[in-house]
Amino acid sequence: MTIVVAIDGPAGAGKSTIAKALAKKLGVKYLDTGAMYRAVTFLALNDGVSLHDEAAVAKLSVDCALDVGEETVTINSIDATRAIRGPEVTNKVSLVATNSLVRNELRTRQREWVRMNDGGVVEGRDIGSVVFPDATLKVYLTASPLVRAKRRVAQSGGDVERIAAEIAERDLRDSTRADSPLMKTDDSITVDTSDRSIDEVVAHLERLARVADEKRAASR
Ligand code: DC
Repeated sequence: MTIVVAIDGPAGAGKSTIAKALAKKLGVKYLDTGAMYRAVTFLALNDGVSLHDEAAVAKLSVDCALDVGEETVTINSIDATRAIRGPEVTNKVSLVATNSLVRNELRTRQREWVRMNDGGVVEGRDIGSVVFPDATLKVYLTASPLVRAKRRVAQSGGDVERIAAEIAERDLRDSTRADSPLMKTDDSITVDTSDRSIDEVVAHLERLARVADEKRAASR
């Protein structure tokens, strides 16, 4: 049986940590689609392509060899694992994420990845709404803005107030863009991770995924 779990939500909600742990529990692979948008942003900056030149950035996304693994991200044979988390990419990636041509290309790759891996836990912003509308389970992860900023600071350092402002700006861009904005679908379950441990959330989601999978199998 193919299990596909879609995990969407704003930055700092705990998506990556939870999605990775959940994938392990379910015995499937994990895909971070944000890393794909980040890698294309990195490549454009690296190649001196203007992020405002939509056609040129789209061409890069179509032509590139992109490998997003659990530990490393490689684009055109360049190890971009660290660079895609740096401030330059982080502050510019939402511009690339508004490029519909890039979104089209990356969605195609995301669907292909799930097909090749026979399911998976996929995290992003438009996974349950657009990429996998028929996912076994759709989760909308969230947390209070302050908790999210503190998590980012614990991960990568910086000043909580400044990071909170940057997160708010990125949230606004992600949720107001014309093409597949971040949103909660009616059939997704919302989990607020502010006051819950990772283990607790993962165990809860594992149960939900298994029940949803069994229900599907029974209805076939
Ligand atoms: O999850 P993240 O912070 O690594 O995501 C980086 C950016 O990519 C962020 O601006 C949201 C965007 N993104 C998106 O638009 N759609 C996705 N499926 C995943 C990420």
